[in-house]
Amino acid sequence: MSIILDHVRYTYESGTTHRSDALKDISLKIDDGEFIGLIGHTGSGKSTLVQHLNGLLMPTSGSIYFDGKDISDSDYDKKELRRHVGLVFQYPEHQLFESDVFSDVVFGPRNMGLDKKAAELTAYKALESVGIPHDLFYVSPFDLSGGQKRRVAIAGVLAMNPDVLVLDEPTAGLDPAGRDEILSLIKKLHDEKKITVILVSHSMEDVANYVGRIIVMNDGMIFLDDTPKNVFAHYTELEDIGLSAPAVTYIMAALKKKGLNVDTGATTIDEALYSILGALRR
Ligand SMILES: Nc1ncnc2c1ncn2[C@@H]1O[C@H](COP(=O)(O)OP(=O)(O)O)[C@@H](O)[C@H]1O
Ligand SMILES: [Mg+2]
Repeated sequence: MSIILDHVRYTYESGTTHRSDALKDISLKIDDGEFIGLIGHTGSGKSTLVQHLNGLLMPTSGSIYFDGKDISDSDYDKKELRRHVGLVFQYPEHQLFESDVFSDVVFGPRNMGLDKKAAELTAYKALESVGIPHDLFYVSPFDLSGGQKRRVAIAGVLAMNPDVLVLDEPTAGLDPAGRDEILSLIKKLHDEKKITVILVSHSMEDVANYVGRIIVMNDGMIFLDDTPKNVFAHYTELEDIGLSAPAVTYIMAALKKKGLNVDTGATTIDEALYSILGALRR
């Protein structure tokens, strides 16, 4: 079920004075089971890019292949694509609308054509998998905490059993506890369900501990596409485009400069800790 973007360009409002070239020649391949962080400052094209992954936006030029098929073909089944690629929008709680949590999550699979029983079963499993306790199933979604609302919105997408889960800034506006809650949930979904995850964020700290690959966007183009270690090694260039590496990167670089022989490639607190302890013992 790989996704391939081949020289994709996207222009908003072409032919007007508001014209915006949001994607300029994007080529990349996403393989099954990957956990990818898509990073870039505001306006770099992240949301535009992810809306192409489930066919919500179609390229102005270039092609997108899902599982070997060109999604621009006239006979391509877009509905099927949306079943495979679930997109959780930024501030998804704005789209919660049913009177209770359970009905909200049932809506997607019902809309997809499942009968009532099957839809309820998949909704039930989805709510359980995001850790919403049973006693919250029938309360109004508007009575939940910020983190809980987000989890319900994620359940709404999981209820469609997607192979690829795309989350557009899922931690935006949450406090640190809510942020950790959502990130560890996403990691759990990736580990246990083996789904491909694409996590959009403007924070390196958010993704450093979780993803295997980081795609950095700048001005509608791919700036870097590599492992976290290799991406953070470019921390001065990241700063030039309004981003920064995780704090750990800076601390390790500073220690090295002071003469402590630490691993400047450490990207997580744990890695840094072991490297510093090791260097001190030596
Ligand atoms: N609906 C739209 N109409 C016109 N321009 C848009 C629209 N949405 C986004 N853009 C422009 O496209 C560019 C990329 O935006 P976006 O994909 O939202 O970036 P990001 O998600 O990284 O903040 C920006 O210059 C933005 O102003
Ligand atoms: Mg965005």
